[in-house]
Amino acid sequence: MKNQIHLFFSIACFSFLFQSCNSGPNLKIDTNNYQKKVDSLIKIMTFDEKIGQLNLLASGWDVTGPVMDPNYKQLIKQGKVGAIFNAYKVDYVADLQRLAVEETRLGIPLLFGYDVIHGYRTIFPIPLAQSCTWDLAMIEHSDRIAASEATAEGINWAFAPMVDISRDPRWGRVSEGAGEDTWLGSKIAAARVRGFQGESIYDERTLLACMKHFAAYGAPQAGRDYHTVDISERSLLEYYLPPFKACVDAGVASVMTSFNEISGVPSSSNHWLYTDLLRDSWGFKGFVVTDYTSIYELIPHGVAEDSAHAGELALNAGIQLDMQSSIYLKNLKNLVATGKVNETLIDKAVSDILTAKYKLGLFDDPYRYCNKTRQENEIMTQESKDFARQMVTKSCVLLKNDNQTLPIPESVKKIALIGPLGDADVDMLGNWSATGLAQNCVTLLDGLKSEGINKNIQVHFVKGCNVNDDSTYGFNDAIKAAKNADYVILALGEHRNMSGEAASRTNLDLPGVQLHLAEKIIELGKPTAVILFNGRPLTIPELNKKAPAILEAWFGGVESGNGIADLLFGKAVPSGKLTMTFPLNVGQIPIHYNMKNNGRPVDPTNPEYQFRSKYLDSPNEPLFPFGYGLSYTTFEYSDLKLSASEITNTDTLLIQARITNTGNFDGEEIVQLYVHDLVGSVTRPVKELKGFSKVFLTKGESKTVTIKLTTNDLRFYTLDMLYAYEPGKFEVYIGPNSSTGLKDSFLVK
Ligand code: BGC
Repeated sequence: MKNQIHLFFSIACFSFLFQSCNSGPNLKIDTNNYQKKVDSLIKIMTFDEKIGQLNLLASGWDVTGPVMDPNYKQLIKQGKVGAIFNAYKVDYVADLQRLAVEETRLGIPLLFGYDVIHGYRTIFPIPLAQSCTWDLAMIEHSDRIAASEATAEGINWAFAPMVDISRDPRWGRVSEGAGEDTWLGSKIAAARVRGFQGESIYDERTLLACMKHFAAYGAPQAGRDYHTVDISERSLLEYYLPPFKACVDAGVASVMTSFNEISGVPSSSNHWLYTDLLRDSWGFKGFVVTDYTSIYELIPHGVAEDSAHAGELALNAGIQLDMQSSIYLKNLKNLVATGKVNETLIDKAVSDILTAKYKLGLFDDPYRYCNKTRQENEIMTQESKDFARQMVTKSCVLLKNDNQTLPIPESVKKIALIGPLGDADVDMLGNWSATGLAQNCVTLLDGLKSEGINKNIQVHFVKGCNVNDDSTYGFNDAIKAAKNADYVILALGEHRNMSGEAASRTNLDLPGVQLHLAEKIIELGKPTAVILFNGRPLTIPELNKKAPAILEAWFGGVESGNGIADLLFGKAVPSGKLTMTFPLNVGQIPIHYNMKNNGRPVDPTNPEYQFRSKYLDSPNEPLFPFGYGLSYTTFEYSDLKLSASEITNTDTLLIQARITNTGNFDGEEIVQLYVHDLVGSVTRPVKELKGFSKVFLTKGESKTVTIKLTTNDLRFYTLDMLYAYEPGKFEVYIGPNSSTGLKDSFLVK
């Protein structure tokens, strides 16, 4: 059974997977030295002590599933736990560590894991929002701050980055990822690993990263969380796996399994994925942890008869640390005794986990992440908050701005802030907000008020309605406030828990009566800007028709209100670009820019002709394409030049274009490069992102942007499943988003 997927995918020749597997900086450490220490420790461990190292339990805080072993403290003392998650704060962590170090025979320290997804206490914008900055250095730095804060309170292992590509905004966990594009997603994935792990895991301000959820968790049928994934081998290799490979190349220390199956095999029993691909092909050297109770879930998946069978499948697949099932703890002894599991696999798992503990320095000092001075002085510093505020300004995406409604004109003195997200502190945190606190969040109301005071502006807030019910009770007050104001800001969207884990939606409209409220207010004819707070693309065609301006603010974390106010008052200029397509309606999903052409694409000269790939009741085009985002200023693209009309595998093609700031603000533009491989041995997407450049231009300024391309960038899985480029003609586009741009072509020989 476990070999099904191996057989299914065995024809895949992972030539790119074998190529220079540059270990990241942390793996440059003298691993031989660790290995000797680890080997000698394993030699003196009893079988029970080994199994204890493979058990990961929640401390009882923040659980997202059933708690299997509430008796975790007792188990630690008995040497039956190797790692704990959801325990933080120096005193608490140190107490638990003491149980392991002082009360067990060998005193092996525990790992402390936690979901540090977009900040620890200084909460940054949700990862989807961060990806809209297209700013790799900024993303890396945010994770460095998160690592520094988390390690100040006892954590040494982050359950991040989540690098699942997803093309389905119904799936609530798109909020945790970097959007729909594999190329950009891979760059962000590697940046995040660097952010968490730094130059060395031994540094007390860095920690172990954990890429998750391996693999294809972002492609559940119908967008329903945890649901079946049925995916072609080619799509898996080309679109879903590369961000994981990028993490491995960056030296990621651990990997988490996913809840889904691929081709009938759940991840936590997938030998092909975890042994053949991850270890043997990619050269992954860290350890593998399951997702929450995933080994147990092999039973409801229907591949394991009982817990013992589930444990057997998982261990034999290469799954090493059991999160919350305690199945290894209870079954491995018997499985070895009956010959169903080989003890060498257990030794290997123990060795990989102990190596991580050595690398963290836990054997030098098990309390090195329990430093009260750091806990008191290094969390939520002014510097981190300033950085978070800047990140908010960079991750917002301006979707519409008719008649320069934004920024708010200087003449405005009375603002009505209306909507259920206007003063919603806890929602600003987004989901998976670690130890972030609602009281630390600057809401939009707070941000407008503190900026407004300097400008002598009055801000009047009326909620108007709730996020998600049908009461219109507050409409009259809202209308009255709008009538009294000379500018209206509508704060609309989702609650933070409407995206994230187990938060799939089948309807992506603004929930409740919010659209209705917006229509009533917009009808008044006042200058009105909508600020959207949400964890995924929404379907907002009506709002887009009616609202003069829309700023997508996502959930921006603790500095949300300040960062948005900076944009609204023109202290900062929007530059974010969407990393997920905004569909027009749910029926278009899955929708993504890098679609295939198919045999019957719509003919632009005869768009009405029926027997073409289209809908009877909707255009094919989304509301906002991937890469889209406006600025207060305007940019003109001109003078596209290619350094050659033909290239071979030894050439670098330089693609240049001139970008001019033609508007009235200084601003930053994210210039995007797409290619289209016109004829392949298999069908190719109509466009694929292959590069970008961020360029800052003062009013009237022009700059030439150069983006490089080589044949390496043009590789894909050919008909023979070789990862290779194919000679032929390629179109190249350079532009402000995936649906428009200057176009040229070149030949590959
Ligand atoms: C999630 C993981 C998370 C884990 C531990 C699971 O439910 O899928 O992403 O790391 O819980 O909190």
